[in-house]
Formats: sequence, structure tokens, C-alpha cells
Amino acid sequence: MEIKNICCIGAGYVGGPSMAVFADKCPKIQIEVVDLNEERIRNWNNEDLSKLPIYEPGLAEIVKRCRGRNLNFSNLIKEKIAIADMVFISVNTPTKTKGIGAGKASDLKWVEECARQVAEFSVGHTIVVEKSTIPVRTAETIMSILKSSDNFHAKNSKSTFEVLSNPEFLAEGTAIKDLENPDRILIGGENDEAIKALSALYQNWVPKDKILRTNIWSSELAKLTSNAFLAQRISSINSISALCEATGADIKEVSRAIGSDSRIGSKFLDSGPGFGGSCFKKDILNLVYLAEYFGLPEIANFWEEVVHINKWHQQRISRLIVKKLLGTVTGKKICILGFAFKANTNDTRESASIKICQDLIEEGAVLFIQDPQVSSSQISLDLGKQENKELKNIKEKNLLMKFEGEWCYEKNIFSAVEGADSVVVLTEWEEYSSINWEEVSKKMRKPSWVFDSRSIVCQKKVIDANLNFWRIGDGTTTK
Ligand code: UDX
Ligand code: ADP
Repeated sequence: MEIKNICCIGAGYVGGPSMAVFADKCPKIQIEVVDLNEERIRNWNNEDLSKLPIYEPGLAEIVKRCRGRNLNFSNLIKEKIAIADMVFISVNTPTKTKGIGAGKASDLKWVEECARQVAEFSVGHTIVVEKSTIPVRTAETIMSILKSSDNFHAKNSKSTFEVLSNPEFLAEGTAIKDLENPDRILIGGENDEAIKALSALYQNWVPKDKILRTNIWSSELAKLTSNAFLAQRISSINSISALCEATGADIKEVSRAIGSDSRIGSKFLDSGPGFGGSCFKKDILNLVYLAEYFGLPEIANFWEEVVHINKWHQQRISRLIVKKLLGTVTGKKICILGFAFKANTNDTRESASIKICQDLIEEGAVLFIQDPQVSSSQISLDLGKQENKELKNIKEKNLLMKFEGEWCYEKNIFSAVEGADSVVVLTEWEEYSSINWEEVSKKMRKPSWVFDSRSIVCQKKVIDANLNFWRIGDGTTTK
């Protein structure tokens, strides 16, 4: 079966970049990305490429090359499903907030809705591909909707479907690189024809031996397990960072030593403020839910601890900041550098910055938050608290006391540190590693602290600038 038209439902962090790369690598295939969200689509179509809804290095260049050629973004869900030979489902699957499985299981209402749209509007034979990270056995749900008589036979008796699982392993910030040069492509399914058709698309740029075929449930479970293993590594190294600080060891040295063991490997061993992002926590909780559902509480407890430690670790950092700032941060100005959950993305979902900033606000600190890509409106949403723009006009330091527990957004790092008691680095943006600490020190109130939760700041330059310094997992600076 030759694929000529693809429709991707969901123009988010997965759908947008992955379809851009598909369009770039398969110029003969017409790709239509559709979304319910009109503003998002308007932004994808913005002439000014800096206004695309997603910031991802390399993405704007590809959109420039392909948009209007074989890549289109629209809200025409019905029309684009109707002409598609293959439909990708790339919608959000957040953790359920109420009902059975609340706090753990994924809410599949958007996936279900997509399946209903496909059942209603598709014409002829359609291959439906799950791309969203979804709980195991979602393909079954999709198939049962596609095959249900109400949606299917009555309206469109000639429509037929195959469902494949093709989880996406891209990491934000390196999405384009990951999509162009993936470690592997996983295709789960039963139908040879459908698998061959999807595999043929990837073979336009991915070597055949990197395309793995599994049964549909293995493919779904492999995605959850992959993320769980990665998150588990971060929780492991972060837990050891606390021990390093207590004993006088240095986490960077420990990481290097254990990462040199080829069985362990050196990647994903950077201690930080705790993992964030839309996938890790959600996928582990899905795994926990699955284990509980199948009567395996020991397995559920094992994986749940990875999430517990992550939350504890974030709290550990905010408490430590309060302790170092003489036991109170009430009315003190703290400059937060970085709100995205990692560098090179504007995504803040589950960012450690959210919890750490909320804790500091709760303690009465006055926060000046800087991030090169995250907007102040997004930070307001995440903190559940409006920015107080008045803060920027306060010249008299003592007046800050009146604004305890407030925050504002400050794009300019040097304005953000003016009169601050401390600077806290929470995201590893490149520009934070080359800050002129001599200049910063002149502007801060003494005694002043620099907290580096990402190990990107040059310790010597900070100390030479007469600033106190704390780095994650460094037992020598903690004492
Ligand atoms: C992750 C998976 O890597 C990807 O395969 C999957 O498709 C989606 O989930 P992502 O969440 O985009 O990708 O970013 P990732 O690079 O995995 O980082 C996740 C979190 O772990 C970030 O908060 C990051 O700062 C943190 N991290 C990562 C560390 O603290 N230390 C590390 O060594 C690596
Ligand atoms: P991800 O990180 O998984 O890509 P996002 O939240 O960034 O998740 O994107 C998911 C997108 O899917 C959103 O833009 C949302 O509007 C869209 N979406 C959700 N349900 C539907 C639907 N039934 N039809 C079209 N688009 C949908």
C-alpha cells in the first residue's frame, strides 16, 4: 500500500516537529497537521518563524522549507482525515485528575475523541498510527471505536482500518536531531501490509536495521519502560547527590567514575533539580497503575519511589536555599535563572522550577524570574499566581519587604540581579554558563549566594567575585 497523504491530529510538541521532519524527508508525500486549537494553528502558519508555537533548534528552518509545499497546518480536521491514507494520533494524554486511576492513569479522552473523528470522517482504507505516549492496550480502545457499528458501518460502510503503535522517542530541545537520526524506530502491530507501508516512509532516511518490529503491546510497553528507566537514572543520581553533599564527595566525580563502566554508560548521569517534562512522571505513574491493576503491588511501589524521590529532591533544594539565606527568605530578592524543564525548549510542563519557585514564594521570597524562551503568561499559569509588574519599579531595596511572596518576569539578567540576595540557576541554558559574575556581584546585596542546580557555573569565577557558592552534589561547597 503506497502512502500519499498523511494527516496528523495534534500540532503539539510531538506532532509538530515529527511531521515537519517527515515532510522534509518525504517530499512526495502530502502532510496535513490538524488541531482543534485555532491559535496554535495560526502560530504554526505565522510568517514570522520566531512565533512558531514550539521552540526547537532547527525546526524553523524545516518549516520554512516545507510549509506550503508538502506540509500544511490547519483546523480542517474532517477534510484532512477524509483524504488521508495514514492518520497519526499525536494528542495530549495527561494524567487523570478524577475518577478511577486518578493521579496515575492517563486520561484518554482526547485519544478517544480522535478515534471517533477518524471513524466518522475517513474514506477507504486508513492506517491509524498511535504516536502519543499512551498506556498499554490503548490500541485496543482505538480499534474498538473504529469498529463500532455506530461510528463505522452506518456512516461509512466502505471504510476499513489498521491500527499500529509507533511511539516517538524524541527528547525536547534535541527533537530535530533525534528525529533525523533516531536510535531506533519502533513499529508495533499485526498487519504486514500496514507495517511495511509505515516502515517504507521511515526508510526514506532511517537505515532498515534501525526499524524494529514488535507486537503492539510490546511497543506500547517499551515506550513506558524506556521513559521509566531514564527517569530512574535521574532519581538515582539525584539521590546520590544528597549523599555527596553530606559526606564531602562530589557528584561530578562520582558520575564520571560510574559512567566509565561501559555497562552503565555515561549518558543521563547529570544531577539536576529533578526531572521534569511531560513524559517521565506521567509514564511512570502509568506503569504504577498498570502494575496495581494486574495485582503486582511490589512492582508498583518500586516504580512509584522514582517519582517520590524526584519530588523530595525538588523540596530539598528549596529548603536548602532558605537555610543558606540565614534561615529566612521573607522579603529577600531571589533571581531565578531558568523556568523551562530543560534547556533549548520553551516547555515548562512538570518543570522543577515550578515546585521550587512555589516553595520560595510560600516562604515569602520576592522572585525575579528570567528565561530566554518561556513567557511571563506561561509562568503565571504554572505558578497559579499573577506577575506583579510593580516590582520592577522598586528602587528602594527595603520596600521589597512589602511584596513578600510576589514575583515578576525580568528578561534582562543584569536587571534581575540588581539588589538580589541570591541567584538560583534552575535550567542549563548556555547563556547562564558565561555570566560575568564580577559584574553581577557588584549589583547584589551582601552576603550573596549563587545556587547552581545544573553544574554549569564556573565555581572559581563566582568565588573570586566574592559570592558564596553552592553546587548540586558538591560536598566541598556545601560545608
Ligand atoms: C524524554 C525522553 O528522553 C524521550 O525519549 C521521550 O520521548 C520523552 O521524554 P524529554 O522529557 O523531552 O524526553 O527530555 P529529557 O532530555 O529526557 O529530560 C527529562 C528531564 O530529565 C529534564 O528535566 C532534564 O533536565 C532531566 N535530566 C536529563 C537530568 O536532570 N539529568 C540528565 O542527565 C538528563
Ligand atoms: P504532546 O507533547 O504530546 O505533543 P501537546 O499538548 O503539545 O502534547 O499537543 C497535543 C495537541 O493535540 C494540542 O495542540 C491539542 O489541541 C490537540 N488535540 C487534542 N485533542 C484533539 C482532537 N480531538 N482533535 C484535534 N486536535 C486535538
